[in-house]
Amino acid sequence: MKIEHNKSLKQYNTFGIDVKATEFIKINSEEELLETLSVYKKKNLFILSGGSNMLLTRDLDFLVMHIAIKGISTHIQSNKSVIVSANAGENWHDFVQFCIDNNFGGLENLSLIPGFVGSAPIQNIGAYGVELKDRFISCEAIHIDTGEKRLFTKEDCNFGYRNSIFKNELKGTYIISKVTFQLTTEDHTLNTSYGAIENALKDNNITTPTIKDVSEAVISIRRSKLPDPSEIGNSGSFFKNPVISSKDFILIQKSYPGIPHYKVDEKKIKIPAGWLIEQSGFKGKRWGDAGVHDKQALVLVNYDNATGQEILKLSQKIQKTIKQKFDILLETEVNII
Ligand code: EPU
Repeated sequence: MKIEHNKSLKQYNTFGIDVKATEFIKINSEEELLETLSVYKKKNLFILSGGSNMLLTRDLDFLVMHIAIKGISTHIQSNKSVIVSANAGENWHDFVQFCIDNNFGGLENLSLIPGFVGSAPIQNIGAYGVELKDRFISCEAIHIDTGEKRLFTKEDCNFGYRNSIFKNELKGTYIISKVTFQLTTEDHTLNTSYGAIENALKDNNITTPTIKDVSEAVISIRRSKLPDPSEIGNSGSFFKNPVISSKDFILIQKSYPGIPHYKVDEKKIKIPAGWLIEQSGFKGKRWGDAGVHDKQALVLVNYDNATGQEILKLSQKIQKTIKQKFDILLETEVNII
């Protein structure tokens, strides 16, 4: 068991924020995980996965456990499907590519999402018309206090829009160690209805796309809009897209007839937070090293050495402006630590 002290976490969070962990340990197997939990039972623990959905605003006076358990297993079924399990420390995009290389369909729309497999269920990652929950079968998780392993079915997870039981009732209680999906081996059900995917396929004259074609379309769309965390620090969408009442929506639409929106149900409308932020004049703006991405206003960026506090202040300024202008409160999608 190798504990490091005063460890910089800059390499371990996609925002590239340079805070320190008092103690840090990289966990490479389930055995190491159980051993560390039993030895450090009474410690203040902080579980760090791919660090792709968090803003670190202070040094962490904790034992930071970086869950890096690798491994993928597959079990072909007779009904044109395959059960694929990935351990928590697998890089999400590499896992999606593994599935595509093996002709396992279902996760292609979720290509190039940063982070690790283990944290994907926590916020039910989603993009281009597909959410993790659509392919999810179950996950295994270890109880932090007791070390007991529990299997969570899809129903147990209470998945919602960027939400699950692991962000609510069970926050800080379990460490996800393995995630299992059911994918297709033939007759893949492609989801290409998202406008940008349709256009990308059309541009390449693809009429009968494969899962690889869809993945490549998603990759090119993401690259054109979203900054690569290895070049510019970021955590993807900083805020959730707000859902407002149809009544409130009609009032806003009177002043902004072109407002993009999606119907959630008869009484609720979802509005892209990126549009609200752009309308409020923040898109492409920069304060020191903290800024708003110039191609997708929903993404806050760290150009180099911004502190977590500077990014946080910028996010609060955006929230305040949008509250004043539209009377809508933007909720953060990333976890503020
Ligand atoms: N828009 C603007 N200005 C902007 C950005 C967006 O006006 O600067 C408007 C446009 O009308 C655009 C619409 O917002 O058509 C939607 O934009 P986009 O397709 O980029 O999607 P989004 O709603 O901003 C969500 C997810 C992304 C996911 C995309 C594609 C959330 C919070 N974000 O963004 O997820 O990749 O859809 O499915 O739901 C993430 O969670 O980190 C993430 C990147």
